[in-house]
Amino acid sequence: VNAAVFQQRLLAWYDRCGRELPWRLSRDPYRIWLSEVMLQQTGVQAVIPYFERFVDQFPDVESLASAPLDAVIELWAGLGYYSRARNLHAAAQKVCEAFQGQFPHSVDALMTLPGVGRSTAGAIRAIAFDRYGVILDGNVRRGLCRLFAWQDDPRSSAAEKQLWQWAAQLTPQQHCHDYAQAIMDFGATLCTPRQPNCVACPMISLCQGYQQGIQDQLPRKRQR
Ligand code: ADE
Repeated sequence: VNAAVFQQRLLAWYDRCGRELPWRLSRDPYRIWLSEVMLQQTGVQAVIPYFERFVDQFPDVESLASAPLDAVIELWAGLGYYSRARNLHAAAQKVCEAFQGQFPHSVDALMTLPGVGRSTAGAIRAIAFDRYGVILDGNVRRGLCRLFAWQDDPRSSAAEKQLWQWAAQLTPQQHCHDYAQAIMDFGATLCTPRQPNCVACPMISLCQGYQQGIQDQLPRKRQR
């Protein structure tokens, strides 16, 4: 798959079809981080009202860090995976104490924040700082398995290595902010888990899964 062609088609598609989401109005690293943590295990529509209540009550990282943990957990109620709320509070305190209230720019430093893994760190770096940051969340994983017709267990360590390599290779050095939003919208709205919308997909001529007629069987289920 030619990376330049992939990027160009993805960015053109995003210009036409990208979603307008509340956190996309901002480049504030605090808001970007908050939205990415909320979106880790929860869909966009469920996240929107929580995101808005959160930034109303805690408009910046200092206000979140100095709030009692109970208040944070209470606002989180209903989003699930409560370890995320505890990690959120601990990460806000770390940003204030170890990073003087400024979110770090590098993936390695971002990954020292509780609840921020490699993909979330890449997303924050790309979206907030418009720098090269590689994303491999569930949406991107599924898209890559189809694009490259990856037939093996997508959770194996070999798959992990290969998928990160493909994700890195397709990520451009320019337009980092737009590309990050675009690659996530692509998986969420076109290359969906069931019945991907291949007829509307700008990648149809690049997609090895489509060419082999197996796109809707990928990614394969974990092998038992
Ligand atoms: N899923 C994870 N991060 C996202 C984002 N920034 N926009 C849309 N969906 C997402």
